[in-house]
Amino acid sequence: MSRLLLILLGAALPILFFTPSEGGEVGVCYGRVATDLPDPASVVQLLKKNGITMVRIYDTDPTVLRSLANTNIKVTVELTNEELPLAAADQNNFALQWVQSNVKAYYPATLINGVTVGNEVFKEASQLNSQLVPAMKNVQAALAKLGMADAVKVTTPIAFDALNPSFPPSAGTFRDDIALSVMSPMVDFLQQTGSYLMVNFYPYLAYLATPGMSIDYLLFRPNNGVLDTGSGQTYFSLFDAQLDAVYYAMEKLPSSSMHVGGMRKLTAGGGTPEVHHGEEGHPNKGHGGVGTPQNAQDFMAGLTHQVLQGNSGTAAANGHRPLTASAVRGTPHRPNADLNVYIFALFNENNKPEDDQDFGLFYPNQQPVYPNPIDFVHGGTSGGPLQPSYCVANAAVGDAALQAALDFACDNRDGNRADCSAIQPGQPCFEPDTKLAHASYAFNDYYQKNGRVKSACDFSGAGTIVNQAPSGACDPSPSWCVVNAAVGDTRLQAALDYACGPGAANCTDIQPGARCFDPDTKVAHASFAFNSYYQLRGRATGTCDFAGAGIIVQQAPKIGNCVLPSTAMR
Ligand SMILES: *[C@@H]1O[C@H](CO)[C@@H](O)[C@H](O)[C@H]1NC(C)=O
Repeated sequence: MSRLLLILLGAALPILFFTPSEGGEVGVCYGRVATDLPDPASVVQLLKKNGITMVRIYDTDPTVLRSLANTNIKVTVELTNEELPLAAADQNNFALQWVQSNVKAYYPATLINGVTVGNEVFKEASQLNSQLVPAMKNVQAALAKLGMADAVKVTTPIAFDALNPSFPPSAGTFRDDIALSVMSPMVDFLQQTGSYLMVNFYPYLAYLATPGMSIDYLLFRPNNGVLDTGSGQTYFSLFDAQLDAVYYAMEKLPSSSMHVGGMRKLTAGGGTPEVHHGEEGHPNKGHGGVGTPQNAQDFMAGLTHQVLQGNSGTAAANGHRPLTASAVRGTPHRPNADLNVYIFALFNENNKPEDDQDFGLFYPNQQPVYPNPIDFVHGGTSGGPLQPSYCVANAAVGDAALQAALDFACDNRDGNRADCSAIQPGQPCFEPDTKLAHASYAFNDYYQKNGRVKSACDFSGAGTIVNQAPSGACDPSPSWCVVNAAVGDTRLQAALDYACGPGAANCTDIQPGARCFDPDTKVAHASFAFNSYYQLRGRATGTCDFAGAGIIVQQAPKIGNCVLPSTAMR
């Protein structure tokens, strides 16, 4: 139903106005470029167990499509870049044959709802640029002939670098080599068929390419926002900014179907098709340190929360952006847009180029990669608050192995390993002077510094991860995170909600009647929550930032009768 019609009906029959909209949806990319993945039937069980309702696959593999039958999981299939020229030429009804045997043959038992024609054609197969829209039209015509044009939408995923410039969002423009020749007719086609443009987004790439950008802005954490001087809008996530850049770029394309020259945004309903996220990825390893399980979790938790709960009330209450006066579902430029996102990817894929392997939500053995798995039903994470975690040395490996690991951990020439100055003779953590105590100190420093990735507590078997602060552990320079009272209540509340949000600190102790409820002030409660979050995150860089609302202190703070700990508590 068109938005216009909905509004008209809503005015006549107010009850309809409150019918929940379709809302956004989160799916996953089920890539299979790996040698060690579970069989498709097991994968379907994994999807169901996690409440995942849509998948995107990169082919039309019969076993996969049959495994997805009768599951109610929506499936987007791909006509590959290799098949694309055949679909464009369409000799001997290639497109019709293709749709018949790869879509119709499985539908409706397998709920195929989209066909992607090619993938990142401009980037991966630019010699096919001119054939892209003709291929899409032939596939569309084939679907129409088979009576499936309403149920199955035709689109193509493009890489975000199809835009230049892409910042600020209001300056978003498609590259010259594709704007008029490909994007303009494609957007007309998508508009006419009620389909959507797909864009593959990897915001961490823009983060890495932009010195000075706040990682909080990338990871949906509280931050000061980035002003788009063109539109006057402030963006609180790179996700919103990139999506809006695509909308602005589409609006600048001339439309062949428009009788009066002008921009698409002047027409009703925004004048452009929706943008769906064909891939939205963040690495769980590597990429200059931005890829860690915790960072990937923060990114996907913020993303899923925004898609499933919106940016309004609840989202603000979880601190993903400051409270706003009006309820917002989409982005600053498209506040009413429903977000549809495929997370890249379901699994780590060991047969991809090394830089592309570690994007999975799950390891091939189906264990979650993130410390707290993503909640696909409500957004955010499931599995309760963050748990403390430390790395200790394992006496059983013997002194020689401990010494070797200690030498490695303390070789801090590049600044990324442990700071071992406190365990030198005469320094505060020299006693007890045992290899075990020194190794535990160094291992833990290294582990916390490296974002608590499992591999940072390996040390060839000499390290073990534990969830209790080791007794007698030496802390030469304790620190705490408390509120910087100079920030206003609105920002404080947003940061407090983030610190106590899903997958963050356990804030039971500041609930009414609990140990640290008194004094009942925002500053006291936020200090408790900030400190708890900071300690739980191993005091890692940036974990006491809260968009300027937190400050690190070296003196034990005391707030009423509530003593803020200098180690992580559950
Ligand atoms: C949260 O903190 C409370 C109070 O300290 C504790 O009883 C509870 O077990 C904690 N919950 C979790 C899930 O760690």
